[in-house]
Amino acid sequence: MSSWVLVTGGAVRLGREISLAFAHAGWNVACHCLESVAAAQSLCAQIKDLGRDSLVVQAQLTDEADCRRLWNEVTQHTGQQLHCVVNNASLFLPDRGTDFDESHAMSQLQANLLAPMRLGKWMAQLHADSKSIDANVIHVLDQKVFNLNPDYFSYTLSKLALERAVSLQAQSLAPRVRVNAVAPGLMYLSGPQSADNFARASRANLLRKPISPANVAQSVLFLANNNSITGTCIRVDNGQHLIPMERDVMFVVDEVFKDMQ
Ligand SMILES: NC(=O)c1ccc[n+]([C@@H]2O[C@H](COP(=O)([O-])OP(=O)(O)OC[C@H]3O[C@@H](n4cnc5c(N)ncnc54)[C@H](OP(=O)(O)O)[C@@H]3O)[C@@H](O)[C@H]2O)c1
Repeated sequence: MSSWVLVTGGAVRLGREISLAFAHAGWNVACHCLESVAAAQSLCAQIKDLGRDSLVVQAQLTDEADCRRLWNEVTQHTGQQLHCVVNNASLFLPDRGTDFDESHAMSQLQANLLAPMRLGKWMAQLHADSKSIDANVIHVLDQKVFNLNPDYFSYTLSKLALERAVSLQAQSLAPRVRVNAVAPGLMYLSGPQSADNFARASRANLLRKPISPANVAQSVLFLANNNSITGTCIRVDNGQHLIPMERDVMFVVDEVFKDMQ
């Protein structure tokens, strides 16, 4: 029987890449979504065409009860064959330390930090008695946590806590569940960015080329399949974290390129 992975925010953008990478590698995929229901359904049909099983589950991750309902729905379908959870979904709202709104900050902490902690806890409970199964949780971070600037303040705060939680949760959920992370750099147009700004910003890294979402997805799959790794983060960002920036890259791309000449 094949293993199942739950990918949060799995219908579009990086989540879709991750869902497809697992499906191509022989996993069944539970694709979580919030608004992208049609995209999730179409992706799951594509996954079924590959000969894998798939499931669409919709839930608001800022709501604990809805997370619980999501978990019950997924595990009723997969049982203990749920071997991996990828915490990819995230809320990305603009603010700074001087103007952050507490309700926006709380939503981002709920979706980006507490939902991954809950799913990890339930994964450990699911596998509490299973000695031979390799179960694991993978968090999707952001290179920002290794290259701080004050833009997207509460988002960064939530990802910083998630980055610190990788080792803490790995210690806490061992030996039944491994916990790892990937930290991508800029992959997709986000926030108020224009296509032109994105085209330039996506090359503002040591390798001077856009970061491949497929490579990020393959790194997630590698962590899922390598049962010797826990408490580790792989930075998949073309070295973006090694170029300090005073603001988010979208706001300083011209200065960054001037400095890189
Ligand atoms: N984009 C980048 O360049 C970049 C750079 C560095 C790190 N990352 C990280 O990589 C991951 C994927 O990035 P992305 O840009 O592909 O993600 P994204 O488009 O910003 O968000 C992924 C999905 O998260 C879901 N989501 C957001 N808030 C939710 C909530 N409250 N409840 C349930 N679902 C929610 C949405 O699903 P629906 O569409 O179904 O509503 C959304 O499509 C994120 O963790 C992000 O922080 C991204």
